[in-house]
Amino acid sequence: MQIQSLLLIAATAARVFAAIDPSVPTVGQQHRYRALPRGSNLALVPVDGSEFLAGQKFDIALEWHSEAFKTIDFSDLVFTINGKDAKKKTSFSVSRASWRYLSLPASGEYNIQVSAGGEKVNAKWVVKGSSTRKVKNTLLFVGDGMAPTMISAARYISRNTRFGKFANGDGFLEMEKWDGMGKISTNGIDAIITDSANSAATYSTGHKGWVNTLNVYADTTSSDNLDDAKVETITEIIRRVRPNMCIGIVTTASVVDATPAAFFGHTRQRGQGQVLVDQALNGFKHLVQNGTTNTWTEKGEPMPWGPAVKPDVLLGGGGEWFKGSLSVNSTDYYAAFAAAGYAVAYDKNDLAAATSAPLLGIFHKGHMDTWYERAYNTKSLAINPDSSPKLDKTTAYNQPGLEQMTLKAIELMEKKCTDGWFLLSEAASVDKSMHPMDYDRGLADLLELDRTLKAVKALPSAKDTAIFLTADHAQGYEAL
Ligand SMILES: *[C@@H]1O[C@H](CO)[C@@H](O)[C@H](O)[C@H]1NC(C)=O
Ligand SMILES: *[C@@H]1O[C@H](CO)[C@@H](O)[C@H](O)[C@H]1NC(C)=O
Repeated sequence: MQIQSLLLIAATAARVFAAIDPSVPTVGQQHRYRALPRGSNLALVPVDGSEFLAGQKFDIALEWHSEAFKTIDFSDLVFTINGKDAKKKTSFSVSRASWRYLSLPASGEYNIQVSAGGEKVNAKWVVKGSSTRKVKNTLLFVGDGMAPTMISAARYISRNTRFGKFANGDGFLEMEKWDGMGKISTNGIDAIITDSANSAATYSTGHKGWVNTLNVYADTTSSDNLDDAKVETITEIIRRVRPNMCIGIVTTASVVDATPAAFFGHTRQRGQGQVLVDQALNGFKHLVQNGTTNTWTEKGEPMPWGPAVKPDVLLGGGGEWFKGSLSVNSTDYYAAFAAAGYAVAYDKNDLAAATSAPLLGIFHKGHMDTWYERAYNTKSLAINPDSSPKLDKTTAYNQPGLEQMTLKAIELMEKKCTDGWFLLSEAASVDKSMHPMDYDRGLADLLELDRTLKAVKALPSAKDTAIFLTADHAQGYEAL
């Protein structure tokens, strides 16, 4: 039996590719690569214990890691799923092999056994069927880097107690009032201390990741950040199966910062802002950079993938990646989004005036300023004379806040889409301020998130919306 009968391969992608990257993993790297069971030179991703939604797309990659610098040709490859031969008759000439854009359509347990070069690797994958839809819209709030202790601190500075009790005083924060609350372990595969990329990607795909990865299983070759095995995101699933559902992405960071980019991008390296802008609009392409120039060409191993996420509303900062020296081929992506039907907003007034999606709103050259400067101490914005998203060497004085962006995104998506919406809304500067232990700015942005939550809960659409609010990691050694 061939792999196709167990893994559903899209018609356009009914091929199995031998990998073309001839590099041998460097000695020492394999121990960072926790897919590798102790004692085997063969590593398989998706890893043992992976869970998929039925039909969720993914790539498979096999790597042979040899400390003796030995390479194998995979000619004796045996690949079985539930005991049946799943091998496509393809020869492999290098130490890595990949299968692209596959899916397992039926729920259940899949026992994977692979051997090659005298080594074996086993994995169990679990596929879960989707349950009946219970709600029309989903809103995921992320307070980036927001540890529970910060939530307590924000309450202490913003609420009074009465005889020691918040309940008898001003009450609790909005984000402390839920039907259900829980704890999540946000550590990744390679490190206990996670970063925004692998944690957001875990929310987006249901698969744990590596530090700096967005929706891929990291391979051990470092030269190509776009050839790693990908996993489909919730937003890509929406695009594939729900044509009338809207997708919104809102952040106070650059829109290609790790958390927002986890909802439309795939890369080993979260820093590839120029590639992520292109992916948001055009979908995944196997782009290869010409040295350190900003010329990127689609070449090498073809990597078929699904439709672009093309968010209906995309709001935040990051103008530096949209045109000029940091954009792919120096393309003007503001013009490219406009050509694709987007209205483009550059400040608070443009945003207020926007009446329809799709809407791209970029309000800063880099990450947006914190609430403290945006809304309170605006004259100090002058310190940065080159913050305009238009890259015209002026100051971005007129930036909207998280609440305005989130409410506008919902308004436009409600208007456009008959089949509900998914929205990510990120308070990014909780983390960015807490890195240098700037409590004033970090906690002010946390309270802005709390007010945004309260405003959303007051909307008529709230009764049709599952609202989640979480963090993605903490700061220092605090655990979430
Ligand atoms: C790559 O860039 C170099 C200049 O750094 C240029 O000479 C060369 O033609 C470029 N190659 C391609 C394929 O664009
Ligand atoms: C960038 O430009 C090169 C040549 O100038 C072209 O071959 C390539 O397709 C362009 N890349 C993209 C992503 O459009």
